Amino acid sequence: MICAPRRRGYYSSDEKDAVRRYFDLALLQNLSQTIGSKLSYFGLPSETLQDLKTWEPILAYVAAVERNAKKYRKIEQALIMQFPELRCTTHLGEIDKVILNNRGTPTDIGGQKYATPVSDHYVPDIPPQAWAFDVVNLDYYGPFLPSEIPEVQNRPRDRANALRKLFNIDRQDAFGRWVLLITVEATLSNSDIALLKAYLNSAKSGASGEVLTMIGYLLSAASDKAEEITKLVHGVTALMVATAASNANLRVKPRGTILYSGAKGQSMIHLAYEFEPAQETLSALVSWPLVLSAPILKPKNPLAAPWFELLSTQPPSLTSEEIRSYLEFLEPSCLDGICPAS
Ligand SMILES: C[S@@+](CC[C@H](N)C(=O)[O-])C[C@H]1O[C@@H](n2cnc3c(N)ncnc32)[C@H](O)[C@@H]1O
Repeated sequence: MICAPRRRGYYSSDEKDAVRRYFDLALLQNLSQTIGSKLSYFGLPSETLQDLKTWEPILAYVAAVERNAKKYRKIEQALIMQFPELRCTTHLGEIDKVILNNRGTPTDIGGQKYATPVSDHYVPDIPPQAWAFDVVNLDYYGPFLPSEIPEVQNRPRDRANALRKLFNIDRQDAFGRWVLLITVEATLSNSDIALLKAYLNSAKSGASGEVLTMIGYLLSAASDKAEEITKLVHGVTALMVATAASNANLRVKPRGTILYSGAKGQSMIHLAYEFEPAQETLSALVSWPLVLSAPILKPKNPLAAPWFELLSTQPPSLTSEEIRSYLEFLEPSCLDGICPAS
C-alpha cells in the first residue's frame, strides 16, 4: 500500500512518522491488548504532540515533561485543547532530573510555587503515589550522553542514573508490563565514543563466549559513523537496561533498534524494550546474549509497507526465527517483509 506523504511538524520526518506509526504504535497496541486497558504515558511529547496524536486511541493518561518554559506552557494548553478527554499533567525540567526527583521545577500554581509529584495521579487498581506508567517515551534532544549537564564527569552518570531509577521507583516490578522507548541522535564526540567503548569492553570480563562475540561485533567498524555509533548505543543501553531490569525482577524483551533520519536529516537511533514481572531467580533473567542481539533496523521506504528492513550487518548467528520473535508485535505483512519465515 502506498500512502501520500502526510504533513509533518517541526519534530518529524517521513521516517520518524513511520517509526511512530508502524513500529511504536504496533508495539503499544500489543501492550494495550495484553494488559487489557488503555495506557498511561510518561515522556517528552513537545508542543506538537505528534506521538500523542498517533497513539491517542490507546492512551488514557499522559504525564508530559519539557525543559523549555515556553514550550512547557504550550504543551499544557495543547493537551487541554486537543485531548480534553485525557487525564494529563505537565512537568517543567530536564527529564533526567524530573525522573530522579519525581517532580519538575516548581511553577506557579494558584499563586504559589509548587511542583506536583510525577507519581501523584490516579490510575485504577494502582496505589496512589506509585509511578505507574505503561509507556516511558524518552524522545530526547541530542546525543545519548547529554552535554546539557555541565560537569563532564557526572553527565553520563546522571542519564544512566535516571534510566536506572525507572526500575527502582516503587511500581514497575509490582504492577505489570511496560515499554521503554529511547531516541537519541547518532552523533557523538570522540570522547563519548571512547566512553561507550570502554563500557562495552568492561562488560567482557567474565562474559561467556557468546557475549564476547556479540560485544566484538558491536565494537567492530561499520560502513559509516552513524552505524558505528548505533551499534555502540544499542550495546551499552541493552546492558544497562538488562542489569537494571534484572535487579527489579523484570524480564526484558528487547524489541529492536532503528537507525533513521530525523527532521533535519540527522541520523537518529530509536531503541525499544518491553518488561514484564518475573517469578524466576535473578540469574535466569539476565540474558545478555538475548538483549545484545536484538535486531537493528532502518527504514526501507517510509511511505510503503513493509516500512523497515534489517541493517546490512546484524548481530552474528541470529536465525530468522529469532529475529521474528523480537519483532512479533509488527503487522504480519511488515514482519514478513523485514524477515520472511524460514
Ligand atoms: C524530539 S521532541 C519530541 C517529539 C515527540 N516525542 C514526538 O514524537 O512528536 C523533544 C522535546 O522534548 C524537549 N526535550 C528534549 N530533551 C529534553 C530533556 N532532556 N529534558 C526535557 N525536555 C527535553 C524538547 O524541547 C522538545 O520539545
